Amino acid sequence: MQHDALEVPAAARPFAPGLYAGQTAVITGGASGLGLELTRALAHLGATVLVPSRDAAKHAPLLEEAAARNWRVECAVLDVRDNHAVDRYAAAMLAAHGRIDLLVNNAAGNFVCPSERLSANAWRAVLGIALDGTFYCSKAFGRGMLAAQRGAILNIVATYAWTGMPGVAHSASAKAGVLALTKTMAAEWAGRGVRVNAIAPGPFHSKGAKQNLWPNEEVKARMEREIPMGRFGTAEEVAAHCLWLLSPYSGWVTGECFVVDGGGSLGKGMWLPGERLASVKET
Ligand code: COA
Repeated sequence: MQHDALEVPAAARPFAPGLYAGQTAVITGGASGLGLELTRALAHLGATVLVPSRDAAKHAPLLEEAAARNWRVECAVLDVRDNHAVDRYAAAMLAAHGRIDLLVNNAAGNFVCPSERLSANAWRAVLGIALDGTFYCSKAFGRGMLAAQRGAILNIVATYAWTGMPGVAHSASAKAGVLALTKTMAAEWAGRGVRVNAIAPGPFHSKGAKQNLWPNEEVKARMEREIPMGRFGTAEEVAAHCLWLLSPYSGWVTGECFVVDGGGSLGKGMWLPGERLASVKET
């Protein structure tokens, strides 16, 4: 695939060139979807980006793009559910890079399945990746950040962490746990130079989400009708807000969860904007 070395990744455009120069970021699952847009933007803004993820097949195209664009990106195979492997990886990366400044707990698994049919194994798989993995990585990299008295962690959650949503009991429960973890670690580490925030995207275009969450156009159209802004987001739009929360511009923000969903999680009224109601007097 051809890469234009001069093209600025969309999520990096609002930010000053070199904003993350000299910093090292870890983005779990950073070779696809939202994680990939974050990898691209942070690398373009000067960070060294370390991408641990399960599927080595996703690493090759990212490394090829990084080489073509002079980005510093390193990939490694890691399953974040394995706490010993996470500890070994964190120790190796700290030894190699001296300091980890940013961590994005982006790795997740999801599919739609009614609660009564969800197997214990399926529940464990999703909780293991999203909740256990976030804790293991935050602890392993957070210790280094606390020692350096600087760092920022960003967790990816979803608005169904507090609304619930039919079909995703596993993911909603995991994300609710991650939200609690975000606030807890933020409170514990605020005085020690480490910020911990979360972002809650609504549905945005990505291959993984399409396969797992809206397998056909009819479902997608129904979901879009539920979003007041009338469309899904893009990974680039979500990534830009992630960068904002990781950046020094958010230096006094911790324990916060920022919703990026086109208004999708706002209350649904008894009438629709634009609809005429007989009971309403014209003024
Ligand atoms: N419906 C119901 N159960 C499902 C399922 C589905 N669509 N997909 C997986 N499972 C079940 C499996 O059947 C298995 O349970 P069982 O042993 O009782 O049969 C359990 O989940 C674990 O599946 P497995 O594929 O062995 O686990 P894994 O660790 O390799 O995969 C998942 C993890 C389940 C999260 C998988 O969906 C995944 O890797 N997804 C890709 C990444 C992703 O989802 N990204 C998020 C996009 S929004």
